Amino acid sequence: MTKAEGRVSFKRVAILISGGGSNMRALVESMAGDHPARPVLVASNDPAAAGLGWAAGQGIRTAAIDHRPFGKDRAAFEAALLAPLLDANPDIICLAGFMRILTPAFIRRFEGRMLNIHPSLLPKYPGLHTHQRALDAQDTQAGCTVHEVTADLDAGPILGQARVPVLPHDTESTLAARVLVQEHRLYAATLRRFATGDRARVDLT
Ligand code: GRF
Repeated sequence: MTKAEGRVSFKRVAILISGGGSNMRALVESMAGDHPARPVLVASNDPAAAGLGWAAGQGIRTAAIDHRPFGKDRAAFEAALLAPLLDANPDIICLAGFMRILTPAFIRRFEGRMLNIHPSLLPKYPGLHTHQRALDAQDTQAGCTVHEVTADLDAGPILGQARVPVLPHDTESTLAARVLVQEHRLYAATLRRFATGDRARVDLT
């Protein structure tokens, strides 16, 4: 009997995406064997998100709540998102390329068990266009951060970081591609540690 077969229960992980979901795919593929967690839902604010089809093909429950009909009413969008989310009864929520800002009320429901991956070495460059900002600042290093989600955007407790060099002829897209490879490694390693209840930082170089 493998350790996994002997496991009585797994941590239930819901993953929120907005697009291709390459980080979601890395997380799903990591949750196998003796990993203490399993994916129970992949949800998106965009019904056309390519990651939804991939997740469904893996036999994972999916949900698509188009945010556009809700306009500026974030609370109404989140109420619609909450239905499939609570139905999946997740222990952990992973934001993976999820591009909607969540309200403090929504975050409070899951604070301490909601993670996000951000493509910079926080606290540097919260928000958008992180790679261009690193290039403009002529940084010699860049990278990504997994952090707990709190009401302060991209500012929750850091759970892991991975660093990459910025090379002389880097463009935004070459740097983004180099960081993305590390995002997949870092998020999978950090989720695994987090799912065991270990909050010690993961640092990858
Ligand atoms: C990644 O750079 C991620 O850090 C950012 O969105 C990009 C695409 O993520 N949040 P994914 O391929 O959809 O996971």
